[in-house]
This record gives sequence, C-alpha cells and structure tokens, in this order.
Amino acid sequence: MAPLPENLTTERVLAIKHYTDRLFRFRITRPAAFRFRAGEFVMIGLRTEDRPLLRAYSIASPPWDDTLEFYSIIAPSGPLTSRLCHIKPGDEVLMARKPTGTLVLDALTPASRLFVLSTGTGFAPFASLLREPETYTKFEKIIVTHTCREAAELRYSEDIVNALPEDPLIGEAAALHVMRYATCTRTSCHRSGRVTDLIGSGKMFSDLSIAPLNPASDRVMVCGSLPFIHDMQAILNAKNFVEGSNAAPADFVVEKAFVG
Ligand code: A2P
Repeated sequence: MAPLPENLTTERVLAIKHYTDRLFRFRITRPAAFRFRAGEFVMIGLRTEDRPLLRAYSIASPPWDDTLEFYSIIAPSGPLTSRLCHIKPGDEVLMARKPTGTLVLDALTPASRLFVLSTGTGFAPFASLLREPETYTKFEKIIVTHTCREAAELRYSEDIVNALPEDPLIGEAAALHVMRYATCTRTSCHRSGRVTDLIGSGKMFSDLSIAPLNPASDRVMVCGSLPFIHDMQAILNAKNFVEGSNAAPADFVVEKAFVG
C-alpha cells in the first residue's frame, strides 16, 4: 500500500448504526490535536491499494465531544460509501487533520432566530450546531427543518433533537428554544411536502405558529442537495437576505451535503 500522506491521520471506528439500507451514522476516535467549529466538514476515507479514497463529511458531533460522529448516505455506485457502509468497530478510517466549511456561527451576523434547513444527510452539520452551547448564546430560537423522501430517513434528526433536552450542556436551552419541522415527500408521514414549498406557501410558519422569515430578525443555514440549495438561495434572495461567508458574515450560508 502507498504511504499515508502527511495531512491524514488513521482513526478507529467506535460504533456504527444503520438507519435504513441507504443511511448510517458512525463514530470514530478523535485525535487530541483536532480542533473544529460546529458545522464544519472534514475529509474522511479508507485506504485502498493505490491511494486513499476520501470524501468530505460534515462533523455531526459537537466540538466538545471526545469522539467524532458522521452521518452517511450509501450510494451503491459510490466508490467510498459502498465500502464505508461495511465498517465495523475497530476498523481503520482515514481523516484529514484540518476541517473547513461555511455553516459556522461566525459566518452569520447577530439576530434572534436561527433557521437550519436540511434535506437528506444535510442534517449532519446541524446535529453538531444543535449541541454547541454558543448556538444558544447567539440565538433565542432555533428552527430546524429536515426533508427526506421517506419517514424512516427522518429518524436520525428525530433521535438527535429528541435527545437534546437530556444534554448536560444545552439541555435546558434546547428544550425551550428548539423547534423541529420534519417533512417527507415520497411516502405518507406526519407532514408531507418539500420545505421550500411549505416556506413559500407560509404553511410552515402557520404550522409552527411563528412569524415568517425576515432578515431583520432571522439568520438561515441551508444544507442538502444542490437543487434544494439553489431553490433556497432564490427564496432567501427574494426576501432580501444576503449570503454570508467566513470572511464576510451576513444573513445566510449554504453548503452542499456530500454524497458518493
Ligand atoms: P422529492 O422527493 O420531491 O425530490 P434526495 O434523496 O434526492 O437528495 O432528496 C432528499 C429530499 O430533498 C427529498 O425529500 C426531495 O424531495 C427533497 N428535495 C429535492 N430537491 C429539492 C428542492 N429543489 N427543494 C426542496 N426539496 C428538495
């Protein structure tokens, strides 16, 4: 096997849980020197005969956690995920030493409500942000949406949000200030429809009994498929939200959920 490039470390799988035949979460060891901000992503992968096979993965665990959690789709023809889905506790996983990303609190200017909107595995960075104490000092209300094809694919965000009140650091704040709005599009479930349509029609706001999106009071993070991101950018631009970045914080930030 080729020697490991210096920017990578070798970590060990600690736990793995499959949600559906397409989705699983896994936990790995964390190098002592590894620092990240809630919402960032890092390259994760496996050794192969010729060179490491790596993909960008949002870190789903909070920065204070001793271990690192990730949430993955299984793309049957995806070179990495078709192998990664077979990992077991004790197996080796490669990880880059440096994380990066735009879905960070530093990229948003102050406001009172934070909307984190996701499709599919795009919920993962928000699983980290929802467990980060700074989220609750910066925002009074956090509205988290998750849209998937099937009801079973909403289980991960349900597990994470349901566990928030027990969290020793943010439990009390989360119990009071987090609202989850989950929808599915291809099977019958509690709420159906794309979140973009439910925002456009105003139904999401009436369902939650909250005021509609307004750049004077709200900040937004978007993570999911490219078409979802483009549609949300158009909706937010039409409402005069300004897209921000690490270098120029503003009203909203977007990032594609990674697949393959
Ligand atoms: P739909 O079933 O109507 O395509 P995927 O698994 O393809 O990434 O999709 C995940 C979820 O994101 C699905 O519920 C899908 O709805 C939804 N979705 C896909 N494109 C958009 C979009 N442009 N706006 C809102 N939701 C979308």
